[in-house]
Amino acid sequence: MGKKIWKMEIKIPNMESIKKHQDYIYLEEDYIDKPKDSFFFLNKIIKKYKKKKLNNLLDVGCAKGEFLFFLSKIYKKNIQLEGVDYSKKLLKEAKKRKYSSDIKFYKKNAYNLKLKKKFDFIIVSGVVCYFDKIEFFLKNILKSLKSNGKLIIFDNFNKYDVDIILRYRNNKYSKKFEPGWNTHSVETIKRFLNKKKFKIQEKKKFNLSFKLKKKKDPCRSWHIKINNRQMFTTGLMQYFDLEALVIGKAKSHLNKK
Ligand SMILES: C[S@@+](CC[C@H](N)C(=O)[O-])C[C@H]1O[C@@H](n2cnc3c(N)ncnc32)[C@H](O)[C@@H]1O
Repeated sequence: MGKKIWKMEIKIPNMESIKKHQDYIYLEEDYIDKPKDSFFFLNKIIKKYKKKKLNNLLDVGCAKGEFLFFLSKIYKKNIQLEGVDYSKKLLKEAKKRKYSSDIKFYKKNAYNLKLKKKFDFIIVSGVVCYFDKIEFFLKNILKSLKSNGKLIIFDNFNKYDVDIILRYRNNKYSKKFEPGWNTHSVETIKRFLNKKKFKIQEKKKFNLSFKLKKKKDPCRSWHIKINNRQMFTTGLMQYFDLEALVIGKAKSHLNKK
């Protein structure tokens, strides 16, 4: 009975039917001339885990493709870069920019992403907080990793064994309740990975190089000091760190192959 209710409650939504007021951020802001701190942070992790040759990388929820453009300048022509996003408007902008004809963009719902290709790296930055049940996403995305490949999920996570589904309505911008600030428990992720013979190989905390100030829109994050520790907060009354989880095949499984 309980299982049935769970299945009914959490469905894979048609993302295009959900207009998210925060899409304006990625349409208006540009991270080409001034790349985000998170781009440097994520590339440091890529550099640490990459083998001699890095063939391809997928950015899930790539917005206008700025991170892919950032990587194309570093890795030049030696890498196939691909991005997916569900937003027609953002992808239109990405394609308009013609950063490099080598970067490929696809319109897809990442929650239920089924790909034929396998990647060395899959980056998912600021996206899993949109999903109600992270296992749906992980199930498919893990199949798209090469055997030594790494999935890097950058987001806010709960260290307690509690998953949080949150809906908010920013009355100045929207008449609807929206997703975008869910918090998944690291324990839920670990349990699922364990079943699939994957594991979290590293958990790395992100520190911004400057103090993030509060903006007009309270649904955007800013810095706050709690017990002398700098954390992120939002007008949804959340307090969190941002972290990257580096996910790869569990060693024992790799050795068996
Ligand atoms: C918070 S932004 C992060 C953008 C970029 N990854 C970054 O870190 O700067 C979230 C992005 O994920 C996209 N997104 C959210 N849900 C998605 C889904 N189900 N399928 C594909 N893209 C999605 C949004 O359109 C948006 O571009």
